[in-house]
Amino acid sequence: PSPRSVSIDGKSYDTDEWHNLTPNIISSASRRLHIQKDHPISITRTIIESKFPAPTYRYHNTFFPVVSTYQNFDSLGFPADHPGRSKTDTYYVNKDTVLRTHTSAHQADVFRRNESEGFLISADVYRRDAIDRSHYPIFHQMEGARMWDREKVPNGDIAAAVWKDLESLPTHTMTVEDPNPPTHPERNPLQDEHSAAEAEAIAAHLKRSLELVVAEIFSRAKTAAIAANPDFVDEQLKVRWVEAYFPFTSPSWELEIFWQGDWLEVLGCGVVKQDILTKAGVPSQLGWAFGVGLERIAMLLFEIPDIRLFWSQDERFLSQFKGLSDNLNNLKRFVPFSKYPACYKDVAFWLRSSSSSAGGGGRANAQDFHENDVMEIVRDIGGDVVEDVTKVDEFTHPKTGRKSLCYRINYRSLERTLTNEEANVFHERVRNALVEKLGVELR
Ligand code: PHE
Repeated sequence: PSPRSVSIDGKSYDTDEWHNLTPNIISSASRRLHIQKDHPISITRTIIESKFPAPTYRYHNTFFPVVSTYQNFDSLGFPADHPGRSKTDTYYVNKDTVLRTHTSAHQADVFRRNESEGFLISADVYRRDAIDRSHYPIFHQMEGARMWDREKVPNGDIAAAVWKDLESLPTHTMTVEDPNPPTHPERNPLQDEHSAAEAEAIAAHLKRSLELVVAEIFSRAKTAAIAANPDFVDEQLKVRWVEAYFPFTSPSWELEIFWQGDWLEVLGCGVVKQDILTKAGVPSQLGWAFGVGLERIAMLLFEIPDIRLFWSQDERFLSQFKGLSDNLNNLKRFVPFSKYPACYKDVAFWLRSSSSSAGGGGRANAQDFHENDVMEIVRDIGGDVVEDVTKVDEFTHPKTGRKSLCYRINYRSLERTLTNEEANVFHERVRNALVEKLGVELR
């Protein structure tokens, strides 16, 4: 039973049976961390912007989070049955309206404006997802794009124009692995509309531009690390390009950074599909686009250990960044305040067997059960007091064929010690909500 209409950041929307927003999400939609002065997300945005200077690049930082499914999916060539469109992954206001799942939702509209050679769009984005230290249902992305106009470059020679203003990377700053050819006929095809020389030049400009961003971030992270610990010795920075797929770019790549022993994916990018530019009324333009997650970069830059901290209003968090916007050359690492005790609670339940017609409006029969629905219920009740949720057991009863699941919820506040009694109150409400909303049977 959803409300008939909702107000999101001051605008009212009709809802229908697709509606799946929770009060938590709605109230966070007006926070705009990416433009809040001295917030680490905003500082990270400013540093990246400095590598894409105006007026070549134009910045858009206040696009509204509610977009049409056309903007978020269709305008980018997502097929009708793409899994990203499902209610388990995306927040729907109603059937035709969503909270954007990525900043690419605004690409086509900005291409259509055709007011600069390049642009950056920073904004909050929304995805139903797991709960842990690096996943939060709202995060921030920056979309970047750069175009060249065939009609405006001498002899229409885009490749020459691109190579001409390509900045080279200072070779000593990091090792870049890029093992794949610029295009690959099956895995990463050249578009029919582009010559190999054009795609290659655009790809080189894209990759060098982003490598410069990473080098910039890490040189600032290093300064901050040395300020905290004069004996700090850094490892040589390693990054690598891997082939990727997006419906709106080809060829496409992801950039990964070697960080604390693992390869960490930080951005997706590629050569813009010509069809998108044609539909946006600028068929003679060619170019690249990227989308980078700002939280990931900010966590590396400041050594912030838990993504929930970005949402904290606690002065022990916010005060550490005061004044840094005006002092970007003197960044300081985040100093974690004491870690409060964890409080683990398990909940085990049976899913309804698929054949059961038992009522209750529950949706959780074995076929259409989705883990994100559990995550959402826990998030709605526990808010930021839940650090992570993990599945600890799963089995199917040999006789009845019913499936049982057990999830472990870690209740831990970032700001204070949570008593066992308080955790019990949260947990009891979670148990009740699982029965009410998913129709499961508690064990
Ligand atoms: N929008 C993509 C994502 O969120 C990233 C991307 C942006 C990829 C632009 C290519 C070009 O994963």
